[in-house]
Amino acid sequence: MKAGIFYHGHYGSTRQYAQWLANDTGYPIYDVRNNDIDPSDFELLILGSSVRSNKLTIKKWINKNWPKIRDKKIIFYSVSGTAPGHPDLQKYLKESLPPEMIDRMDYIPLRGRLNVKEVSWGIRLLLWFGSLVERDPEAKQRMRIGFDFVDEQNIKPLIRLIASYAVSS
Ligand SMILES: Cc1cc2nc3c(=O)[nH]c(=O)nc-3n(C[C@H](O)[C@H](O)[C@H](O)COP(=O)(O)O)c2cc1C
Repeated sequence: MKAGIFYHGHYGSTRQYAQWLANDTGYPIYDVRNNDIDPSDFELLILGSSVRSNKLTIKKWINKNWPKIRDKKIIFYSVSGTAPGHPDLQKYLKESLPPEMIDRMDYIPLRGRLNVKEVSWGIRLLLWFGSLVERDPEAKQRMRIGFDFVDEQNIKPLIRLIASYAVSS
């Protein structure tokens, strides 16, 4: 089965997960920001996206390519500060992806990393203002001091899912 890993992120954690997945599966990896590779050529797409201000950053690419990928097998992972199981994750999906895609994709949320010292002053300010209006105390704290949940072990459920597709194809 021809498969590829397509991702979009800014600070490296979405790329890091994509890289670990590529190492494990041998599938090629594409940063959608500097690649115009045609996704029509693939049967299985593993799509990875960071979350920024409640939106999936790969949103534009998916919406542009939706006619080409709507009939593909899609495994989707998001990378954010939000813990798996938190209702905000559903909000990010609903605000960013075609409802038809949400219905039939397999989705695994992963947790990423934020080093507040690494981001620009504009982004720091944005995070600070965001933290003032954030009601969830844990999220408020994350936006102020950062976090690091990136761990290779987190890709295990994705690897199991990919293996199940490879067997059933
Ligand atoms: C400007 C900004 C906005 C963010 N907004 C959210 C958010 O709405 N929800 C969330 O869970 N995480 C949010 N995060 C955390 C990122 O999703 C997290 O740092 C992720 O690991 C970034 O992926 P990347 O390293 O591939 O860019 C935000 C981070 C930044 C810098």
